[in-house]
Amino acid sequence: KKRVAILISGRGSNMRSLIAAAAAPDSPVEIALVVSNIGSAAGIQFAAEAGIATEIVPHKAFNSREAFDRAVSAHLEETRIDIVCLAGFMRILSDWFATRWMGKLINIHPSLLPLFKGTHVHEQALQAGVRVSGCTVHFVVPELDAGPIIAQAVVPVETGDTPDTLAARVLVEEHKLYPAALRMLAEGKVRLEADRAVFG
Ligand code: GAR
Repeated sequence: KKRVAILISGRGSNMRSLIAAAAAPDSPVEIALVVSNIGSAAGIQFAAEAGIATEIVPHKAFNSREAFDRAVSAHLEETRIDIVCLAGFMRILSDWFATRWMGKLINIHPSLLPLFKGTHVHEQALQAGVRVSGCTVHFVVPELDAGPIIAQAVVPVETGDTPDTLAARVLVEEHKLYPAALRMLAEGKVRLEADRAVFG
């Protein structure tokens, strides 16, 4: 099985969906490590209780982005990680880290990229007046939220939606999409080749 690390900063509901999917007997992955930059992240407690190795790497303890990233990467190497999943990890990674893990590093973002990068994603979608939104799993490259797309799911925007109601509708799809995309990568059904996602 491919050894997977999940990087989180908070609630960890996507992390939980990845852990649940990895428990299936035919899963090609094992969740070997959960890393958080925030010690009080709810997801860390869940992972520890599930018997998964956890590491807290407080970003404030480092004086540069790359120093933090090198500390995270050292934990990933020690744990012999094959694939890294960002799941609500709210730190921008350095070019060094994105390059070190290129092709093995994926993220989930709660919009139909390339629309609505960055933060306040659902506010951006409602402000733009789009009638559908969704979520995207993509390879991470140095440019923020710009890597080649692996999978997307679409939800309707409903009359009267607030950022919270839209976020909740998108999150239901995130929890299905991320395990499916991770499985594709772990089984070699998608790979990164020269800035393109190549399928099959
Ligand atoms: C998810 O909606 C994820 O797509 C989003 O944060 C939420 C984390 O929830 N990620 C980003 O916005 C990344 N820029 P979770 O901690 O319950 O998985």
